[in-house]
Amino acid sequence: MKILVTGGTGFLGQHLTRVLLMAGHTVSMMGRDFSQVLPSLRKEAVPIICDLRDKNAVKQACRDKDAVYHVGALSAAWGKRADFFAINVEGTRAIVEGCREHNVKRLIYVSSPSVVFMGADQRNVTEALPYPRRFVSVYSLTKKLGEDLVNAAASELETVIVRPKAIFGPGDRTLLPQLIAAARRRRLPQIGDGRNLVDLTYVENVARALLLALNTAAAIGKTYTITNDEHILLWEVIRKVLQELLLSTQLRQIPLSVALTAAAMMEARAALTGTEPLLTCYSATILARTQTYDITAAKRDLGYAPSTSVATGIEHTLAALKEQEA
Ligand SMILES: NC(=O)c1ccc[n+]([C@@H]2O[C@H](COP(=O)([O-])OP(=O)(O)OC[C@H]3O[C@@H](n4cnc5c(N)ncnc54)[C@H](OP(=O)(O)O)[C@@H]3O)[C@@H](O)[C@H]2O)c1
Repeated sequence: MKILVTGGTGFLGQHLTRVLLMAGHTVSMMGRDFSQVLPSLRKEAVPIICDLRDKNAVKQACRDKDAVYHVGALSAAWGKRADFFAINVEGTRAIVEGCREHNVKRLIYVSSPSVVFMGADQRNVTEALPYPRRFVSVYSLTKKLGEDLVNAAASELETVIVRPKAIFGPGDRTLLPQLIAAARRRRLPQIGDGRNLVDLTYVENVARALLLALNTAAAIGKTYTITNDEHILLWEVIRKVLQELLLSTQLRQIPLSVALTAAAMMEARAALTGTEPLLTCYSATILARTQTYDITAAKRDLGYAPSTSVATGIEHTLAALKEQEA
């Protein structure tokens, strides 16, 4: 198939592109900055330099494609509200319109389980959980608005929404690297009591789930949460990673309420200075709350099963980080 991957230059986008190429598809990868793209992908995939805010160019990129994976997004804990809307909502609108105009058969939208996160502990959440009345971040809100646009197009094209939870693996520049960087500066406290359970997802498992979503008839019009199907103690894993990197695991503990007050002040200052805060209310909450998911639907309809465990995934991630630093 001829496939467009938006966000092809990013962490998940590159893994997905590789999996699609290996499955024999012709892949165009869209992004703005190709400098971090693996040379093998640059050779095998067709690069499309395009900003998701350029509506006409985005629509044009959908031309002659059988399927589009909309992976690209402003995926961050902090940023300008207007940018989140322009990239995540209007960019998704342009993709949906492009798919319609160019008769793309299937659109697979990468969303996030944060669209149903209420900021409190949540256990074994299924796709049936309704959206909250208040979103924990402008990121979550705009990903939800993206879902609305994709769902609204479901009568005209085959749509599938995939919500991967907390992706980690080689090539990630956010989740573990940011925690490690904070620990190196001795600025990583443990937020909360350290007993919160979370689901992480190894990037390769997400890419394989996305591949399964390409042809499965039962997936049309549906939404799937993807995780590693292992509920883990987040701070135990963080300490294990720090230990492997010979960093201190003695983390000062602060209650979530204290972290939220500090984060609110940092965000207020950041709004004035334009520099990214060390901590946001969203990140503090994500690090302290239990968030586990039930992925029965993905197993049943997509035949999804995580092939790499969290432990093995962490080993691969650490090996890649050590290689990068060597
Ligand atoms: N990482 C996670 O834990 C996680 C969890 C749940 C859901 N997700 C979702 O998964 C997707 C991929 O996330 P990721 O972790 O791979 O993020 P990432 O590494 O930051 O990649 C984001 C991608 O979006 C592209 N992008 C951003 N703004 C753009 C713009 N204005 N125009 C064109 N392209 C733009 C970036 O391209 P350039 O940099 O080249 O512009 C990059 O390819 C996102 O939709 C995110 O919401 C991620």
